[in-house]
Amino acid sequence: MQNIVILISGQGSNMAAIVHSAAREQWATRLGARVAAVISNRPDAQGLVFAREQGIATEVLDHKTFATREDFDAALAALIARFDTPERPALVVLAGFMRILTPGFVARHAGRLVNIHPSLLPAFTGLNTHQRALDAGCKVAGATVHLVTEELDHGTILAQAVVPVLPGDTAALLAARVLSQEHLLYPRAVAQLLSNL
Ligand code: GRF
Repeated sequence: MQNIVILISGQGSNMAAIVHSAAREQWATRLGARVAAVISNRPDAQGLVFAREQGIATEVLDHKTFATREDFDAALAALIARFDTPERPALVVLAGFMRILTPGFVARHAGRLVNIHPSLLPAFTGLNTHQRALDAGCKVAGATVHLVTEELDHGTILAQAVVPVLPGDTAALLAARVLSQEHLLYPRAVAQLLSNL
C-alpha cells in the first residue's frame, strides 16, 4: 500500500476532488494507494473540515510557530514520514499549499512530490496567475500538474488542462473556470503517477 499525504493551506477543493476520485475509482484495490492524511499549515484551513468528515487523519503544522523555514520543513518531513509504508514512501500532493519548500525538503521527496499550478507553465509562475494572463491578452489559460523541484513551478510537467479566456472575463471568473478543470486534471494525474511509481 502507498499512502498519499495531501498538503493544503485553504479551501482544499483539489484535495476533495482527489479524495472523491480515490473512492469512486477504488484506488486502494486498483492502484494500491489511499489518501492517508491531510496536513495544513493553517489551523483555519476550510479543507480540514471536509477531510475530518471523510475520516481522514488531519494534522495542523502552523508555520508561524517555527523560527525558520528549515525548522518547519524538518517537522513537516517528519510528519509525512509517519505515513511511509514498509513498501513505499508516501506520495506528497500539494493542493493549494501556499508555502515555498526548502531544497532539503524537495530533495528528500524527489519524484514523489507533485503540485498543481493555475497556469499553463512555463507561463506565469508564482502568484496572481489569472490576472496576469488577462493582462497579457492570453486567449487560453489553464492549469499544470508538475513534479516539484527546487525552482518554483519548474519541475517536469505531468499534465495540463486548457480553458478559453472569454470576453468580459475577470480574474475571479477565469480562476473558477480553471479550478473546475483542476478538479478533473489533478486526480487523473495523481492516478497516472501512482501507476508509474
Ligand atoms: C488552485 O487554483 C491551485 O491551483 C492553486 O491554489 C488553488 C487552490 O484551491 N495552487 P483549493 O485549495 O484546492 O481549493
